[in-house]
Parts: sequence; C-alpha cells; structure tokens
Amino acid sequence: PWTRERAAAIIAEFAGTKGATMPILHEIQHAFGFVPEAAIPMIADALNLSRAEVYGTVTFYHEFRHELPGRHVVRLCRAEACQSMGGDALAERAEKRLGIKLGETTPDRRVTLEPIYCLGLCATAPSAQVDDRMVGRLTESKLDAILTEAQS
Ligand code: FES
Repeated sequence: PWTRERAAAIIAEFAGTKGATMPILHEIQHAFGFVPEAAIPMIADALNLSRAEVYGTVTFYHEFRHELPGRHVVRLCRAEACQSMGGDALAERAEKRLGIKLGETTPDRRVTLEPIYCLGLCATAPSAQVDDRMVGRLTESKLDAILTEAQS
C-alpha cells in the first residue's frame, strides 16, 4: 500500500539528478500501482517545481494512473499498426464486455482496461498486455478468453 514514507524515500533517491520527474513518477507507480494525488506536492517540493508542473506531467503521459488499478490490468494497443489490424473493434468489444471505457476499472475492481500506445509488438499486431504478459495477434476469441480469465 501507499505510504508517505515510501514515497519520500523514492523521491529522495532521485531528487539530486536532472530531469528527475519522470523517473520518480515511474518508480512511484511501480511501487504503488498508481501515482497518488498526495505524492504530487511532495515531488514538487523536492524538485522545486510547481504542483501544476508535476500534475501536468502526470496527466500528459497516458501511462500514469491516478487510482489503484483492479486486480488485473488489460492494456490494448491503440497505436497505428494495431489500429490498422482491427484494434478499434477489439477495444470496443472489450469495453462492451466489461461495461467500462478504456481507462476505467470494473466496479468489482477485478479488471482495469487501459489504452497503450505501442507495445513494440507491431509485427504481431494487434497487440495487448495482460498484467506482465504480452499477447500478439489478438483476435476476438483470444480477447474474450483473456477477459473471462481476468474477471474470474
Ligand atoms: Fe501496437 Fe506497435 S502499434 S504494438
């Protein structure tokens, strides 16, 4: 779980280096699963930035989450190569099946559905990532199986 002490230790680790905002945000998300709102003023103070600047960075980059994710995170690639291979229809299908939009978590908190912009698997598009597992050549039936498993 998120604690101020742990966040402070992460911030302290990077605070002396140039361009520390991104590494700190990545490390915080890695440690807690998201970037807690309360960490923003802590980062701003440590790096001598305004809160708005740090907040702007967090909201600009899609990879940062603002709340704790569900038990499983399903990411669907929404970048060009995957889109041209039917990614739009797959994303729509996933949204319909889960009853949520990309970027949301199911009410039972089992699944978070997220867009991602290229997983580096363009050769096997359309691609997805399920927790730490990469999935290429996604099809409707593969997607259904992934969602059923994630929801169970
Ligand atoms: Fe989807 Fe590269 S565009 S993996």
